[in-house]
Amino acid sequence: MSKKIKVFAPASIGNVSCGFDVLGLAVTQPGDVVEISLNDSGQVTIQSILGDEGRLPLEAAKNTSGVAVIEFLKSIQSNQGVSITLHKNLPLGSGMGSSAASAVAAAVGINELMGSPLKKIDLLPFAMEAERVACGSAHADNAAPSLLGGLILIRENHPLDIIEIPTPKELFCVLVHPHIEVKTRDARSVLKQTISLQDGITQWANTAALVAGMMKEDYELIGRSLVDVVAEPLRADLIPSFNKVKQTALKNGALGCGISGSGPTVFCLCKGRAEAELAGQSIRDVFLNISLENEVFVSEVNRQGAYALIS
Ligand code: HSE
Repeated sequence: MSKKIKVFAPASIGNVSCGFDVLGLAVTQPGDVVEISLNDSGQVTIQSILGDEGRLPLEAAKNTSGVAVIEFLKSIQSNQGVSITLHKNLPLGSGMGSSAASAVAAAVGINELMGSPLKKIDLLPFAMEAERVACGSAHADNAAPSLLGGLILIRENHPLDIIEIPTPKELFCVLVHPHIEVKTRDARSVLKQTISLQDGITQWANTAALVAGMMKEDYELIGRSLVDVVAEPLRADLIPSFNKVKQTALKNGALGCGISGSGPTVFCLCKGRAEAELAGQSIRDVFLNISLENEVFVSEVNRQGAYALIS
């Protein structure tokens, strides 16, 4: 049995516009990397975190990677000593599923080091518990796609019922991360607890149509279903020039455009890499016009989820 492993877990687009809290899509890049090694200490410790500018807790019980390992070991009734090094490539508070990616990479890593007693899908509750510790609520819309890859529908959280939705081959994802931070907690606090029946009808029609569009490989249908009347109208003000960003992306190759997770990252879906590059650059320019530095990530859909890196 190997004593050391390095695992990559990708960023993900939570909600995918209309699928508030129930849809998530994994991208190929960027992602977090977690290194895990076994030892005889009987403790789970975080040895170091690189790339977070000292902002994340080093206490294992408060860090999503540590929580995922602790919960995994609890479930198999092991008091194995574990040391974790976290390479935090994903920005914090970005809406790209940063906390979920660290937790997922850690859960996959410890499972493999312990001889894979659990199936990949059975690791999801550990990543969700880590999300609960980090954000106050246990959503699977980032953890599930980061773990399994692809587009995931979370039909039910308790008991977990998740469905993998096929995506068309030429579907490309664009993430544009403006250099501001929005905490998930704050982005949830602007939401209303109730919605009108009309908004409900619009939202579930679009969610069903988006899933149908993916399965039928109907890019036009995907584009016109990327509409969110529940969260986006209330969160748009948290992202400078969001409406301009969206209009510009739609004129420059995007099938649809919205807020990634709880923001401030903006995402769009495109047919083909060239369209995705164009849409990404057009969004970047809108942010630059208001002196907002940002990074663009263009990627295919990640179809494998988290995986061990050969070191
Ligand atoms: N679905 C969540 C939200 C994203 O939009 O608040 C974080 O899991």
